[in-house]
Amino acid sequence: MWGLGAGTSLPGLVAAKVGSDVTLTDVSRRTEVLDNIRKTCEINNLNCEILGLTWGEWDAPMFSLQPKIVLGADVLYDAKDFDDLFATVAFLLRDTPDAVFITTYHDRSGHHLIEYLMVKWSLNCTKLLDAFSFMPSCKSSNLSGNIQLAEIVYNHPKA
Ligand SMILES: C[S@@+](CC[C@H](N)C(=O)[O-])C[C@H]1O[C@@H](n2cnc3c(N)ncnc32)[C@H](O)[C@@H]1O
Repeated sequence: MWGLGAGTSLPGLVAAKVGSDVTLTDVSRRTEVLDNIRKTCEINNLNCEILGLTWGEWDAPMFSLQPKIVLGADVLYDAKDFDDLFATVAFLLRDTPDAVFITTYHDRSGHHLIEYLMVKWSLNCTKLLDAFSFMPSCKSSNLSGNIQLAEIVYNHPKA
């Protein structure tokens, strides 16, 4: 499993705890974030690979690894990065059969819809879960828009 924008890395750490082979990535030039991820793995006695990978930049790891599951927890928050993120996701999914990108998407305003980026990068997005459907109303009533758990795959051209 690959974590994009891993940051605090909780989902990746859980995946590693239950036995997945995990690679955690974050912005290449933010060495303090990558160091924090490294320390968190050490503290939890987990042997994850940690790599610099900036969305929209073709860092070396992009060309050597073919992840089956790519995880992006809370990575869709700044609309200016969406295009770069999906460029990277499409590149990672394209060459690995059955690879998926699992992400959460909080559509706060309706202004940041990602449909056009799905078309642009030949991706197909399926909603897995509406977070408001299981969140207690005391929590969801403070949040605007909706939060979805989504699965995104690469649309391979038909032969
Ligand atoms: C809101 S945090 C989410 C962190 C973590 N996935 C979580 O759920 O706690 C967003 C993460 O995306 C990373 N990020 C932001 N822009 C990025 C980019 N252009 N390339 C790679 N990572 C980026 C940030 O460094 C940060 O760790």
